[in-house]
Amino acid sequence: MSHPMPRFIALIPAAGSGSRMGVELPKQYATLAGRPLIAHAVATLCAHPRISQVLVVLAPGDRHFAACDWGGCGDKLVPLYCGGETRAASVFNGLLAANDAIDGNDWVLVHDAARPGLAAAEIDRLIDAVRGSDCGGLLALPAADTLKRANAAGEVLQTEVREGLWHAQTPQMFRYRMLLEALRRADIAAVTDEASAVEQTGVRPLLVRGSTANFKVTYPEDLALAERLLGTDKK
Ligand code: CTP
Ligand code: MG
Repeated sequence: MSHPMPRFIALIPAAGSGSRMGVELPKQYATLAGRPLIAHAVATLCAHPRISQVLVVLAPGDRHFAACDWGGCGDKLVPLYCGGETRAASVFNGLLAANDAIDGNDWVLVHDAARPGLAAAEIDRLIDAVRGSDCGGLLALPAADTLKRANAAGEVLQTEVREGLWHAQTPQMFRYRMLLEALRRADIAAVTDEASAVEQTGVRPLLVRGSTANFKVTYPEDLALAERLLGTDKK
């Protein structure tokens, strides 16, 4: 089905196991401020007026998602039980599964389930900066600390030049057709974010300033930090 105006569709890969969190329950279902971690990003994206659909890519055997309370998300929320071995495989499978419902020109905003601190204003900033470009783009933060390269013993080999280095965040926003083709051509096991797959095709995605609050919950202590930031920084 072709739409006169490209739509903005969110895709949340949520088929990981959260191994660095060190607990049995996949981290996207860890409790954060009284809700599953994933519910924060889902709620923000579903509530955003410019986002028309929120696709969530789950592990094929996921029993947790259906047990959560998704009231208030309306009919934008679409679970897809087709997660893969890696994050990139989950994104690729999700894009394929949604093929019939998405136009090639629609924009896909891929966002980690483990980033609960995404703010509506950042979604707008990304969309406004990227929609006029053919290269897509992503939220990111300029590296603030001095960067050291280490050897295996944890000794400093050298200080890296910080100038021009950014930390990639999500959402990462690309036209559906471009992202699908980039992932199809990429070595999926080596891809850690959508932008790197697109970069390999010779395209230069745009870096759009994100925020510290949009960090990725990875280790157990990150839950408490995210809880504190959610209380104060989310606007
Ligand atoms: N993800 C996914 N499919 C995978 C692996 C990861 O959909 N096979 C998702 C995660 O659920 C998460 C996002 O990709 O929402 C970012 O990945 P990451 O933070 O690395 O989560 P995990 O891979 O679950 O954690 P870890 O690397 O510690 O095992
Ligand atoms: Mg991972």
